[in-house]
Amino acid sequence: MGTEVTEIQGIGHRVKRKEDDRFIRGKGTYVDDVKLPGMLHMAVLRSPFAHATIRSIDTSRATALPGVVAVVTGELMAQHNLAWMPTLSGDTQAVLVTDKVRFQGQEVACVIAEDPYVAKDALELIDVDYEALPVVVTPQQALDPDAPLIRDDKEGQTDNHIYHWESGDKDATDKAFAGADLVASLDTFYPRSHPAPVETCGCLADVNPATGRATIWMTSQAPHAIRTVFALVTGLPEENIRIISPDIGGGFGNKVPVYPAYVVATAASLLLGRPVKWIEERTENLISTGFARDFHMHGELALKRDGTMLGLRVSLLADEGAFHADAQPSKFKVGLFHIVTGSYDLPVAHVVADGAYTNKAPGGVAYRCSFRVTEASYLIERLVQNAAYELGMDPAELRLKNFIDKDQFPYKSATGFVYDSGDYHKAMNLALEKIGYDELRKEQERAREEGRLLGVGLASFTEVVGAGPSKDYDILGLKMFDSAELRLHPTGKAILKIGVKTQGQGHETTFAQIVAEELGIPPEDVLVQHGDTDNTPYGLGTYASRSTPTAGAATAVISRKLRDKGKKIAAHLLEVSEDDVDFAKGRFFVRGAPDKAKTIQDVAFAAYTNFPEGLEPGLEGVHYYDPPNMTFPFGTYAVAVEVDGETGEWKVRRVVAVDDCGVRINPMIVEGQIHGGLAEGFGIAAMELITFDEAGNCIGSNFMDYLLPTAWETPRFELGETVTPSPHHPIGAKGVGESATVGSPAAYVNAVIDALVHLGVKNIDMPLTSAKVWEAIQAVGAEAGG
Ligand code: CDP
Repeated sequence: MGTEVTEIQGIGHRVKRKEDDRFIRGKGTYVDDVKLPGMLHMAVLRSPFAHATIRSIDTSRATALPGVVAVVTGELMAQHNLAWMPTLSGDTQAVLVTDKVRFQGQEVACVIAEDPYVAKDALELIDVDYEALPVVVTPQQALDPDAPLIRDDKEGQTDNHIYHWESGDKDATDKAFAGADLVASLDTFYPRSHPAPVETCGCLADVNPATGRATIWMTSQAPHAIRTVFALVTGLPEENIRIISPDIGGGFGNKVPVYPAYVVATAASLLLGRPVKWIEERTENLISTGFARDFHMHGELALKRDGTMLGLRVSLLADEGAFHADAQPSKFKVGLFHIVTGSYDLPVAHVVADGAYTNKAPGGVAYRCSFRVTEASYLIERLVQNAAYELGMDPAELRLKNFIDKDQFPYKSATGFVYDSGDYHKAMNLALEKIGYDELRKEQERAREEGRLLGVGLASFTEVVGAGPSKDYDILGLKMFDSAELRLHPTGKAILKIGVKTQGQGHETTFAQIVAEELGIPPEDVLVQHGDTDNTPYGLGTYASRSTPTAGAATAVISRKLRDKGKKIAAHLLEVSEDDVDFAKGRFFVRGAPDKAKTIQDVAFAAYTNFPEGLEPGLEGVHYYDPPNMTFPFGTYAVAVEVDGETGEWKVRRVVAVDDCGVRINPMIVEGQIHGGLAEGFGIAAMELITFDEAGNCIGSNFMDYLLPTAWETPRFELGETVTPSPHHPIGAKGVGESATVGSPAAYVNAVIDALVHLGVKNIDMPLTSAKVWEAIQAVGAEAGG
């Protein structure tokens, strides 16, 4: 009895991912793997124009093609009041066009056919008469008083301005700037990028004509929230809608929004009485779904001569595309951008943000970051580096001088966040030590004398993850909390159902480890289920590193509740008072007599076979966890690069990443998350760019034009760790999934600029292509030469 307890792989163990068994054998079930009898296939006709009136749509040739079952247009959708739908940020978006197209790639019509190839062929037989309109591709153009009005569908909308939002204290900030010795400034652009998950979006809608029950398999990071939105959009009763999000091949924010094709496929299934499948092609994914970033930012940092930071001023202009569709907490128009004060003890700050409509696809998804934190982190880290150069101070020294001290936590930032815990000095010092900072600086001096360009870049970030608390955070009014339901079977095995949804993060393993830690049931005995709205408790989904701080906490709490009930059963079995029973590592034992014990498995069996009189049988429960605060993971990334001044080519020499996400449930999974984020951060800094020509054509509609880093280009990462637990989280964990993508791009850019700053290069916007770096060198050369 009890000798096996040391084998329990709870928190802190590098348990291999349970889900990988099916993935590496090719036995996962993705949406496209689901096949139903009588299933039809849908293809979407997308607009080649970025802005054009639709004079007419003639579907007769397409409808006549053998195998085509139906062609759906906006007109048909409008007859069912489904031509428009609400977005997750409270705007409206066209499902299928009824008036004019507003971005290239917008959904114009859909073909439903017996075969996916017939559906695709039929798209070419739809005759659409477009009348091109002038196009707006930047938010600056959009706000020109003479700009064409993009959202003329909205009553009272007279220009392309969407929102104005401010945070912080303007007067106090102005005062701080008036008293400053020096003001460092930076104008920068965080370009549009795409999450580009390996699996594109798709759905299979099956509305049963007899029962009216809609079962929809969908690539969704937030199935419960989507079910509610679907109920509101379609008018179907919510209990009759079942969203199943099966295995998902990456999400990264791209699979949070509701896409028009989901709605059309469901409506088509309802009307036709047959299942309808839509699987997006790569180009469709790249031109029309869930972009990220696209922020024009201006920052100013007020400082004393000795380097003390006095205040921060930021203004930004967001390009939201034609429909404001990104999911941001409704209180905060630009997400949590006001975390822009970063890791610094800034007494005052003032942030002003404006959003504009353009003729581009909707953007702004939480692409591996918590609601716009990536942009904020990038701006402050670039700005601090600039300030260091202006002061003639070492960038590491300037950071260390101004970091919030570990004794200041909980720390209230100038824009109102209460940071839970941190030790920024420790993380940075470890990163500096690991990369050999002092040595690198000496080498840099020698290199400069020899005409070589060596640079060291730093970025220290503070993330804000784990939304709720519900009092501050919601999506479309749905409060952000999360849930876990735990059921212990008579044989001591367990099933855990969670409100969040894994897309590769390994929840099936780490959440089982939380149960193992709390109840002593080995992780392999805990089946974790997620993604099916019929079978899991309500939750707001997985994005923005919220799963561990919310549903992970719910899992710990419900495990503890079952443990408390288990104690009563153990006392009954051991014939002692409940007060005399203690619990450790899966055993309930009599205090002072540790050999008198019952295992959690004994207790689970007794919960169904031999429970005390008056106690409710069974051992299961559900907990909804509303966190008291967000969690604030942090870290420092240090990058060393060498730049070839002749070509602008830059090579990464070292990347050191020190992360602190509190207690690590599964260090191996955490490292995998960080590796993924670092690879994404590198890609964004080095090569990823989606841009648009003057006519609004998307340049970046395929992987030849939109460059993602492969293993070939990606540098080697060296990881370091500090552990500062979150005081309010039941197991001390903070989220981590997004941190590396948030923190690292600035480190690469800072490194390249650091290599060139003595030549006079102060700013290069991402991505740092060789051509851009070369041009920056040439520009300062020309300036210096007169
Ligand atoms: O919401 P999402 O799952 O994307 O992000 P997360 O909560 O930061 O978790 C990412 C993965 O890392 C999950 O499998 C977590 O359980 C795991 N994790 C961990 O093992 N320890 C932590 N302190 C934080 C996350």
